Amino acid sequence: MAEGAHSERLSLGDPNSFSRPEDCVITDLSLDIEVDFGRKVVKGKGTYTCKRVSVGADVLILDTDRLTISRVYCKDSSTDLQFTLADPVDKFGSKLQIILLSTFSSEFEICIDFENSPTSEGLQWLEKEQTAGKRHPYMFSQFESIMARTVLPCQDTPSVKHPYRAKVTVNKALTVLMSAVPQGSAAASDDKVTYEFFQKIPIPSYLIAIAVGDLVSRKIGERSKVWTEPEMLDAAAYEFAETDTMLKTAEDLCGPYIWGVYDLLVLPPSFPFGGMENPCLTFVTPTLLAGDRSATSVIAHEISHSWTGNLVTNKNWEHFWLNEGHTVFVERKIVGRMYGEQHRQFAMIGGWTALYEAVKDFGETHGFTHLVPDLTGSHPDDAFSRVPYDKGAALLFYIESQVGGADAMEGWLKAYVQKFKGQAITTDEWKDFLYSYFATQHDALNKIDWQNWLYSPGMPATKPVYDQTLFTACETLANHWLAGTDLPQDSAVFDGFSTNQKVAFLSTLLIKDPMPVDRVLQMGALYRLPGVNNAEIKTRWLQLCLRAGSDSQLDATLKFVTDVGRMKFLRPIYKDLYKLDSVRQQAINTFIANRPQMHRITAKMVAEDLHLNE
Ligand code: BES
Ligand code: ZN
Repeated sequence: MAEGAHSERLSLGDPNSFSRPEDCVITDLSLDIEVDFGRKVVKGKGTYTCKRVSVGADVLILDTDRLTISRVYCKDSSTDLQFTLADPVDKFGSKLQIILLSTFSSEFEICIDFENSPTSEGLQWLEKEQTAGKRHPYMFSQFESIMARTVLPCQDTPSVKHPYRAKVTVNKALTVLMSAVPQGSAAASDDKVTYEFFQKIPIPSYLIAIAVGDLVSRKIGERSKVWTEPEMLDAAAYEFAETDTMLKTAEDLCGPYIWGVYDLLVLPPSFPFGGMENPCLTFVTPTLLAGDRSATSVIAHEISHSWTGNLVTNKNWEHFWLNEGHTVFVERKIVGRMYGEQHRQFAMIGGWTALYEAVKDFGETHGFTHLVPDLTGSHPDDAFSRVPYDKGAALLFYIESQVGGADAMEGWLKAYVQKFKGQAITTDEWKDFLYSYFATQHDALNKIDWQNWLYSPGMPATKPVYDQTLFTACETLANHWLAGTDLPQDSAVFDGFSTNQKVAFLSTLLIKDPMPVDRVLQMGALYRLPGVNNAEIKTRWLQLCLRAGSDSQLDATLKFVTDVGRMKFLRPIYKDLYKLDSVRQQAINTFIANRPQMHRITAKMVAEDLHLNE
């Protein structure tokens, strides 16, 4: 367990939330907030509709983290309500307890006046100099997994879902976007404007999202616009042109898209993830703007979350694989339908390699390599890795092979979404439904070693069988370089690879023992790797050099970790820099110099990777 960790489960249902939705639960939320760029805070009022679920419940418990609560009161009578804000419990924030009036009926409405802290992890504030246009400041949120509580009081557990409405007031030069359907805007004063939003579908707190900046949009599909700062609009519209086709393919697999609009927002470089499935408005990293439409899998992934994750949601973060494993499975189904089944199988092989790397990184007996980990006392972000994604997707692929193939599994997928949409579920509920759907195939299901797949560390005991067609060429070329024999004289084979094959080739080299420095550099020169801009390729090339003990690419490496904010690229490189004695101190210095510009989540995770918190 991490140092200073809280060793008790905060609540029975969710180890990472103080709330007690089984006693009293939020059923609707209305926000009336102002975004104050001067003080870097969001402040305002939340109106919460609540329902008493257990008869004797006399408190409402909410999660908060570094929030100032100035007043809690009844909506209609404006009577003040008593509340206590407990001392913070290390990484989980402070429990807010509101004493309910005995006169409340089973449904009641309360208001909370609150303000968050400029140090909240859930928001990043950029000065205008840090934006592409350099004319206006920018602010964006990232609430998954447990950061919503750093911006607003809420039951910060994915088991609680409710609609939300919001009125957001900002300086009139700025545009506000949220994870909801926009309802228009109106002048609030001479220099301020108020935007309105409505998300009518019940969602968990981690899917509330906001971005404010100098934002413009272009239509890219029937239901879709792409939003960016003006400087990136053309590139973004080009890169994401396949969005509409993917949405239709996803509907074919999962059922109707019920969220109304599906827009994309390209964030500034410090956005910590590849993509985030905020409803109606997926957030994406600008590293996707590679100019080659190679980001297909990220968009297919976030679109898929519209069903797996946003409709059928993990009940707490221990069941995160229900969100991510299923979403990777659907993402690759979309890829298979659009580009052919071989591409799906090829992506599954890449996932197996990524899982292998993650298991090696944690250590093969580590608790976070369980598909369903125990998060008591742990922050979900510390457990984050490819394990829920790729052990999860591999399990679903393996089930597919046991129950009669792709068609059978597609039938199950639709039925699964239909059965659990609007709910938050656990792995047991998932498994019970699997058994009831495949009622005539219990013999096949019983052959699956559930204990091993779900609750054991390390690689799964069984590897599913994947079609090797697209992978074989990558592996063959990698084997030549690893053996150092029959090395290619020209770059023809490599140049003939798709971007994904180049990534698979480099990943295959990375999971093996490092090659001698000379050979790595010879390969880099032959394939012109130092000049590549695609971040997936570049990350692996820089890692190969570091693992070979070479600091020849150090300048490029330190520049890359300064320019790019996506943790998928930043963290592996920082980890490898740390392992190499000759560059460790320079890496630490670079991080310390950049830290003020970095996203708080990224800075926290990299600090751990560089062992700076010990
Ligand atoms: N929901 C995740 C991002 C996330 C996970 C944020 C956990 C915070 C905590 C998102 O859907 C995701 O998985 N993004 C991937 C995309 C990839 C799998 C195609 C990413 O950012 O790399
Ligand atoms: Zn995801």
